[in-house]
Amino acid sequence: SEKWVLMVTAQTPTNIAVIKYWGKRDENLILAINDSISVTLDPAHLCTTTTIAVSPSFNQDRMWLNGKEISLAGGRYQSCLREIRARASDVEDEKKGIKITKNDWQNLHVHVASYNNFPTAAGLASSAAGFACLVFSLAKLMNVQEDNGRLSAIARQGSGSACRSLYGGFVKWVMGKEENGSDSIAVPLVDEKHWDELVIIIAVVSSRQKETSSTSGMRETVETSALIEHRAKEVVPKRIIQMEEAIQNRDFPTFAQLTCADSNQFHAVCMDTSPPIFYMNDTSHRQVAYTFDAGPNAVMISRNRKAATLMLQRLLFHFPPNSDTDLNSYVIGDKSILK
Ligand code: PMV
Repeated sequence: SEKWVLMVTAQTPTNIAVIKYWGKRDENLILAINDSISVTLDPAHLCTTTTIAVSPSFNQDRMWLNGKEISLAGGRYQSCLREIRARASDVEDEKKGIKITKNDWQNLHVHVASYNNFPTAAGLASSAAGFACLVFSLAKLMNVQEDNGRLSAIARQGSGSACRSLYGGFVKWVMGKEENGSDSIAVPLVDEKHWDELVIIIAVVSSRQKETSSTSGMRETVETSALIEHRAKEVVPKRIIQMEEAIQNRDFPTFAQLTCADSNQFHAVCMDTSPPIFYMNDTSHRQVAYTFDAGPNAVMISRNRKAATLMLQRLLFHFPPNSDTDLNSYVIGDKSILK
């Protein structure tokens, strides 16, 4: 009877912020200093696939990322595991003759195998898809009876941006007011069908691991930048309102202006913190919005498939593919799915 194994597999897309999250007010719970808005990509292209197995024969929690074992000792993994275990409920598989009670989960261990189909930690929000998928699949395995909003608050404790990957389409992470983070959750704005003419182009110009982690980068910004407070208190709140309206109205000129301006200010704030690493090009074409995360890779959003194709061709001409360059286009994606 100790020989059984129970498994679930889930797939979660990554997301790209159009109004950026940068700066924490609580590093442990991962609470942001401003709201943010992102677009979730199609899980068929940029996603994490995670399989979790549970068996009474496992004597510790273990995890493999892209086939290599990683340590689960970090506080982020422990927070996610602890929060999901605390909400576990009974699971019964009659065919296999398995019965797990709420209490059993506290002593059972899991083995997690996770794969990214895109470069890990190169500023393409791999931690977003990764932690969202971990939390989503753990919740399914342990029969957690909570909605995606509540699950997003748990994923947030793995990686802030992860909370936004629990939903498809455009998603807002509300920073919240509570000290315990209970109201710091992701809220879906519109689903992936609302603005499906948008095409998202990602130019991976370097797949190398980025040098400054977002955690230390944000800490340094909050500690040293004179601009960050102005951004968080004065600029972002107004932009959030305007961005929500632009998305609702499918107003591309306003959407593009806000997306580019917010990416620029995010990088300005980064430049105000530490020696500048600035990567920009002149793609601020009327048909295109650009945004750069904490890495050199460009994300461009177009509402016109022809313009997007033309741009991909031009980019390929100027940056012929080598071992490090990869140009791809994606569509807006749906939420996490179970396979
Ligand atoms: O949650 P993290 O540690 O992946 O931080 C993400 C920060 C940015 O990607 C730069 C912006 C964002 O809102 O996703």
